[in-house]
Amino acid sequence: KTESLLSILKLQPVVPVLIVEDVASAVPLARALVAGGLRAIEITMRTPAALDAVKAVAAEVEGANVGAGTILNGRDFDAAVKAGSTFIVSPGVAPGVLSAAKDSSVPLLPGAATASEVMKLREAGYDVLKFFPAEQAGGSAYLKALSSPLAGTLFCPTGGISLKNARDYLSLPNVVCVGGSWVAPKELVSAGDWAGITKLASEAAALKG
Ligand code: 3PG
Repeated sequence: KTESLLSILKLQPVVPVLIVEDVASAVPLARALVAGGLRAIEITMRTPAALDAVKAVAAEVEGANVGAGTILNGRDFDAAVKAGSTFIVSPGVAPGVLSAAKDSSVPLLPGAATASEVMKLREAGYDVLKFFPAEQAGGSAYLKALSSPLAGTLFCPTGGISLKNARDYLSLPNVVCVGGSWVAPKELVSAGDWAGITKLASEAAALKG
């Protein structure tokens, strides 16, 4: 499962983190992101439209790898998998999420923000983690400080990341990709400016460490 998670996260330097308010926007939005080179897409379970959005993107958007984020319990994990998610993201970790993940073939990217959280997740068999909330928890300098004592753990930092600071993370040896909502701003989505989103996605896809 680690291998399949890594192969998804390595598709691109930036995983878009989406809050989908209107299910009708999910497919054109995902198509715009894929057209810009961002194929792994995280739809957060923060809106009533989220599960249907995962279903629609999984069924209709060629080339997309749709995952579900903000999974806070086992029930939501199972629902997101049933909707067609190819990966699951959680801002932290909870026993219910871990036990649902154990019973599933779909990989989990669990969240951690401290050395102890990382160590506990490593004991549970996870060595690819979301670092959240990245900027607020200490940013790239903090994550760099974890790289030597916690060598062997890879991170996808999210929270407060944008085109401006993404490189600071991507250049670290323990970062596999970053996540962020900046590639799908609310104004562009509600205006249906898909070309604008493809442009933001292309800039993000071109980032290197
Ligand atoms: C997440 O859900 O992973 C983060 O909230 C994304 O953070 P951002 O909106 O600051 O990019």
